[in-house]
Amino acid sequence: MSANDKKKRVAPPLHRGDTNQNPPGIGILRLLLEDLRTHERNPFEQGFWAVAVHRFGNWRMGLPKLLRFPFTLFYRFLNKWVEWTCGITLPYTVKLGRRVRLWHHSGMILHARSIGDDCHIRHNTTFGVVRRDQNNEIPTIEDRVDIGCGVAVLGDVIVGHDSIIGANSVVLKDVPPYSVAAGLPARVLKTLKPPEAQEQNGDAVVQKPEAVAEVQTVA
Ligand SMILES: CC(C)(COP(=O)(O)OP(=O)(O)OC[C@H]1O[C@@H](n2cnc3c(N)ncnc32)[C@H](O)[C@@H]1OP(=O)(O)O)[C@@H](O)C(=O)NCCC(=O)NCCS
Repeated sequence: MSANDKKKRVAPPLHRGDTNQNPPGIGILRLLLEDLRTHERNPFEQGFWAVAVHRFGNWRMGLPKLLRFPFTLFYRFLNKWVEWTCGITLPYTVKLGRRVRLWHHSGMILHARSIGDDCHIRHNTTFGVVRRDQNNEIPTIEDRVDIGCGVAVLGDVIVGHDSIIGANSVVLKDVPPYSVAAGLPARVLKTLKPPEAQEQNGDAVVQKPEAVAEVQTVA
Protein backbone atom coordinates (compact mmCIF):
# COMPACT_ATOMS: atom_id res chain seq x y z
CA MET A 1 0.00 0.00 0.00
CA SER A 2 1.49 3.35 -1.00
CA ALA A 3 1.69 6.50 1.09
CA ASN A 4 -1.07 8.03 -1.09
CA ASP A 5 -3.38 5.11 -0.42
CA LYS A 6 -2.80 5.77 3.26
CA LYS A 7 -4.77 9.01 3.04
CA LYS A 8 -7.85 7.03 2.00
CA ARG A 9 -7.24 4.22 4.49
CA VAL A 10 -9.44 4.16 7.54
CA ALA A 11 -7.84 2.38 10.46
CA PRO A 12 -9.86 -0.75 11.30
CA PRO A 13 -11.08 -1.14 14.90
CA LEU A 14 -8.43 -2.30 17.34
CA HIS A 15 -8.45 -5.77 18.87
CA ARG A 16 -10.58 -5.51 22.04
CA GLY A 17 -8.50 -7.94 24.02
CA ASP A 18 -11.40 -10.32 24.61
CA THR A 19 -9.76 -13.39 23.04
CA ASN A 20 -6.42 -15.19 23.20
CA GLN A 21 -4.32 -13.70 20.39
CA ASN A 22 -1.19 -15.78 20.98
CA PRO A 23 0.20 -17.28 17.76
CA PRO A 24 -1.86 -20.31 16.70
CA GLY A 25 -0.51 -23.86 16.46
CA ILE A 26 1.78 -23.74 19.49
CA GLY A 27 0.97 -24.25 23.17
CA ILE A 28 1.83 -21.68 25.83
CA LEU A 29 4.74 -23.67 27.30
CA ARG A 30 6.40 -24.31 23.95
CA LEU A 31 5.81 -20.67 23.05
CA LEU A 32 7.52 -19.50 26.25
CA LEU A 33 10.45 -21.85 25.64
CA GLU A 34 10.79 -20.48 22.12
CA ASP A 35 10.71 -16.91 23.50
CA LEU A 36 13.44 -17.84 25.99
CA ARG A 37 15.57 -19.30 23.15
CA THR A 38 14.97 -16.08 21.16
CA HIS A 39 16.37 -14.16 24.14
CA GLU A 40 19.58 -16.21 24.13
CA ARG A 41 18.21 -18.65 26.74
CA ASN A 42 18.85 -15.96 29.33
CA PRO A 43 16.04 -15.77 31.91
CA PHE A 44 17.45 -12.44 33.13
CA GLU A 45 16.72 -10.69 29.80
CA GLN A 46 14.11 -8.01 30.44
CA GLY A 47 12.75 -8.49 26.91
CA PHE A 48 11.98 -12.12 27.68
CA TRP A 49 9.90 -11.14 30.72
CA ALA A 50 7.96 -8.52 28.79
CA VAL A 51 7.13 -11.06 26.06
CA ALA A 52 6.35 -13.82 28.60
CA VAL A 53 3.90 -11.61 30.52
CA HIS A 54 2.29 -10.60 27.21
CA ARG A 55 1.84 -14.31 26.33
CA PHE A 56 0.37 -14.99 29.76
CA GLY A 57 -2.04 -12.04 29.39
CA ASN A 58 -3.36 -13.58 26.18
CA TRP A 59 -3.38 -17.17 27.39
CA ARG A 60 -5.68 -16.30 30.34
CA MET A 61 -8.26 -14.96 27.85
CA GLY A 62 -8.77 -18.56 26.71
CA LEU A 63 -9.99 -19.53 30.21
CA PRO A 64 -13.67 -19.50 31.22
CA LYS A 65 -14.63 -16.08 32.66
CA LEU A 66 -15.06 -17.17 36.29
CA LEU A 67 -11.77 -19.05 36.38
CA ARG A 68 -9.99 -16.18 34.63
CA PHE A 69 -10.39 -13.59 37.39
CA PRO A 70 -7.38 -14.51 39.62
CA PHE A 71 -5.20 -14.87 36.51
CA THR A 72 -6.32 -11.41 35.37
CA LEU A 73 -5.32 -9.92 38.73
CA PHE A 74 -1.96 -11.69 38.51
CA TYR A 75 -1.50 -10.51 34.90
CA ARG A 76 -2.18 -6.90 35.88
CA PHE A 77 0.38 -7.13 38.66
CA LEU A 78 3.00 -8.74 36.36
CA ASN A 79 2.34 -6.20 33.63
CA LYS A 80 3.03 -3.30 36.03
CA TRP A 81 6.03 -5.13 37.44
CA VAL A 82 7.51 -5.39 33.91
CA GLU A 83 6.85 -1.68 33.33
CA TRP A 84 8.44 -0.66 36.64
CA THR A 85 11.45 -2.96 36.57
CA CYS A 86 12.15 -3.34 32.83
CA GLY A 87 10.79 -0.08 31.40
CA ILE A 88 8.86 -1.99 28.74
CA THR A 89 5.17 -1.42 27.98
CA LEU A 90 3.75 -4.15 25.76
CA PRO A 91 -0.06 -4.40 26.16
CA TYR A 92 -1.48 -7.89 25.64
CA THR A 93 -3.84 -6.41 23.01
CA VAL A 94 -0.89 -6.01 20.62
CA LYS A 95 -0.92 -9.03 18.29
CA LEU A 96 2.59 -10.34 18.79
CA GLY A 97 4.25 -12.79 16.39
CA ARG A 98 6.71 -15.55 17.19
CA ARG A 99 10.42 -15.15 18.02
CA VAL A 100 10.17 -11.40 18.60
CA ARG A 101 13.40 -10.20 20.21
CA LEU A 102 13.37 -7.17 22.51
CA TRP A 103 16.97 -6.06 22.82
CA HIS A 104 18.06 -4.31 26.00
CA HIS A 105 15.35 -2.50 27.96
CA SER A 106 13.80 0.78 29.07
CA GLY A 107 11.85 3.43 27.23
CA MET A 108 10.01 0.84 25.12
CA ILE A 109 6.36 1.75 24.57
CA LEU A 110 5.14 -0.81 22.07
CA HIS A 111 1.56 0.18 21.40
CA ALA A 112 1.16 -1.35 17.94
CA ARG A 113 -1.72 -3.00 16.12
CA SER A 114 0.55 -5.99 15.47
CA ILE A 115 4.21 -6.96 15.50
CA GLY A 116 5.14 -9.75 13.09
CA ASP A 117 7.31 -12.84 13.45
CA ASP A 118 11.10 -12.56 13.87
CA CYS A 119 11.16 -8.81 14.52
CA HIS A 120 13.99 -7.14 16.45
CA ILE A 121 13.14 -4.11 18.60
CA ARG A 122 15.61 -2.07 20.65
CA HIS A 123 15.58 0.27 23.63
CA ASN A 124 13.78 3.62 23.55
CA THR A 125 11.44 2.52 20.77
CA THR A 126 7.94 3.97 20.68
CA PHE A 127 5.02 2.66 18.65
CA GLY A 128 1.91 4.78 19.10
CA VAL A 129 -0.47 7.49 17.96
CA VAL A 130 0.40 10.79 16.30
CA ARG A 131 -2.16 12.70 18.37
CA ARG A 132 -3.84 11.95 21.67
CA ASP A 133 -7.33 11.77 20.15
CA GLN A 134 -6.37 9.19 17.47
CA ASN A 135 -6.44 6.10 19.66
CA ASN A 136 -7.27 3.80 16.77
CA GLU A 137 -4.34 4.88 14.61
CA ILE A 138 -1.35 2.87 15.65
CA PRO A 139 1.32 1.11 13.55
CA THR A 140 1.53 -2.34 12.03
CA ILE A 141 4.98 -3.89 12.05
CA GLU A 142 5.24 -6.77 9.58
CA ASP A 143 7.47 -9.86 9.76
CA ARG A 144 11.27 -9.67 10.11
CA VAL A 145 11.45 -5.92 10.68
CA ASP A 146 14.58 -4.70 12.45
CA ILE A 147 14.05 -1.54 14.48
CA GLY A 148 17.12 0.45 15.58
CA CYS A 149 17.37 2.10 18.99
CA GLY A 150 15.36 5.25 19.69
CA VAL A 151 12.89 4.80 16.82
CA ALA A 152 9.37 6.26 16.91
CA VAL A 153 6.77 4.75 14.56
CA LEU A 154 3.67 6.91 14.80
CA GLY A 155 0.15 6.62 13.44
CA ASP A 156 -1.62 4.08 11.27
CA VAL A 157 1.47 3.24 9.22
CA ILE A 158 2.71 -0.12 7.96
CA VAL A 159 6.38 -0.99 8.24
CA GLY A 160 6.77 -3.53 5.45
CA HIS A 161 8.30 -6.94 6.08
CA ASP A 162 12.07 -7.45 5.94
CA SER A 163 12.75 -3.75 6.46
CA ILE A 164 15.36 -2.07 8.65
CA ILE A 165 14.66 1.22 10.43
CA GLY A 166 17.73 3.27 11.38
CA ALA A 167 18.48 4.44 14.89
CA ASN A 168 16.56 7.49 16.14
CA SER A 169 14.27 7.63 13.10
CA VAL A 170 10.71 8.91 13.18
CA VAL A 171 8.48 6.90 10.84
CA LEU A 172 5.32 8.75 9.81
CA LYS A 173 4.57 7.07 6.47
CA ASP A 174 4.37 3.51 5.22
CA VAL A 175 7.70 1.83 4.61
CA PRO A 176 7.62 -0.64 1.69
CA PRO A 177 8.90 -4.19 2.27
CA TYR A 178 12.68 -4.75 2.01
CA SER A 179 13.51 -1.11 2.72
CA VAL A 180 16.27 0.45 4.76
CA ALA A 181 14.70 3.66 6.07
CA ALA A 182 16.09 6.27 8.43
CA GLY A 183 15.99 9.92 9.42
CA LEU A 184 13.60 12.46 10.77
CA PRO A 185 11.15 11.99 9.13
CA ALA A 186 12.29 8.55 7.98
CA ARG A 187 12.94 8.14 4.25
CA VAL A 188 13.87 5.04 2.31
CA LEU A 189 17.66 5.01 1.91
CA LYS A 190 17.85 1.80 -0.07
CA THR A 191 15.88 -1.26 -1.05
CA LEU A 192 17.18 -4.68 -0.09
CA LYS A 193 17.01 -7.52 -2.59
CA PRO A 194 14.53 -10.24 -1.67
CA PRO A 195 16.37 -13.59 -1.28
CA GLU A 196 14.71 -14.99 -4.47
CA ALA A 197 16.01 -12.07 -6.56
CA GLN A 198 19.51 -12.60 -5.21
CA GLU A 199 19.39 -16.29 -6.15
CA GLN A 200 18.12 -15.51 -9.67
CA ASN A 201 20.91 -12.96 -10.22
CA GLY A 202 23.48 -15.38 -8.86
CA ASP A 203 24.67 -12.80 -6.35
CA ALA A 204 27.51 -14.07 -4.21
CA VAL A 205 26.66 -12.29 -0.96
CA VAL A 206 23.26 -12.91 0.52
CA GLN A 207 22.90 -10.83 3.63
CA LYS A 208 19.46 -11.33 5.06
CA PRO A 209 17.99 -8.69 7.41
CA GLU A 210 18.24 -11.21 10.25
CA ALA A 211 21.97 -11.44 9.66
CA VAL A 212 22.26 -7.66 9.54
CA ALA A 213 20.47 -7.49 12.87
CA GLU A 214 23.04 -9.72 14.52
CA VAL A 215 25.93 -7.67 13.15
CA GLN A 216 24.34 -4.43 14.32
CA THR A 217 23.92 -5.57 17.87
CA VAL A 218 27.54 -6.53 18.43
CA ALA A 219 28.22 -2.88 19.27
C1 LIG B 1 20.01 2.43 9.12
C2 LIG B 1 21.27 1.56 9.16
C3 LIG B 1 20.89 0.09 9.27
C4 LIG B 1 21.95 1.81 7.83
O1 LIG B 1 23.17 1.14 7.78
P1 LIG B 1 23.88 0.96 6.36
O2 LIG B 1 23.02 0.15 5.45
O3 LIG B 1 25.25 0.45 6.61
O4 LIG B 1 23.88 2.41 5.72
P2 LIG B 1 25.07 3.47 5.62
O5 LIG B 1 25.83 3.54 6.90
O6 LIG B 1 25.81 3.17 4.36
O7 LIG B 1 24.28 4.84 5.48
C5 LIG B 1 23.60 5.21 4.29
C6 LIG B 1 23.20 6.68 4.46
O8 LIG B 1 22.18 6.76 5.47
C7 LIG B 1 22.58 7.62 6.53
N1 LIG B 1 22.11 7.01 7.78
C8 LIG B 1 22.45 5.81 8.28
N2 LIG B 1 21.83 5.59 9.44
C9 LIG B 1 21.08 6.68 9.69
C10 LIG B 1 20.21 7.04 10.73
N3 LIG B 1 19.98 6.21 11.78
N4 LIG B 1 19.58 8.22 10.67
C11 LIG B 1 19.81 9.06 9.62
N5 LIG B 1 20.62 8.76 8.58
C12 LIG B 1 21.25 7.58 8.61
C13 LIG B 1 24.10 7.66 6.44
O9 LIG B 1 24.60 8.85 7.00
C14 LIG B 1 24.31 7.59 4.95
O10 LIG B 1 24.07 8.86 4.39
P3 LIG B 1 25.00 9.40 3.16
O11 LIG B 1 24.78 8.42 2.04
O12 LIG B 1 24.45 10.78 2.91
O13 LIG B 1 26.39 9.37 3.69
C15 LIG B 1 22.19 1.89 10.36
O14 LIG B 1 22.83 3.13 10.14
C16 LIG B 1 21.43 2.00 11.69
O15 LIG B 1 20.92 3.05 12.07
N6 LIG B 1 21.36 0.86 12.41
C17 LIG B 1 20.69 0.79 13.72
C18 LIG B 1 21.64 0.06 14.66
C19 LIG B 1 21.27 0.23 16.13
O16 LIG B 1 20.21 0.63 16.51
N7 LIG B 1 22.23 -0.10 16.95
C20 LIG B 1 22.03 -0.08 18.38
C21 LIG B 1 22.57 -1.35 18.95
S1 LIG B 1 22.33 -1.37 20.66
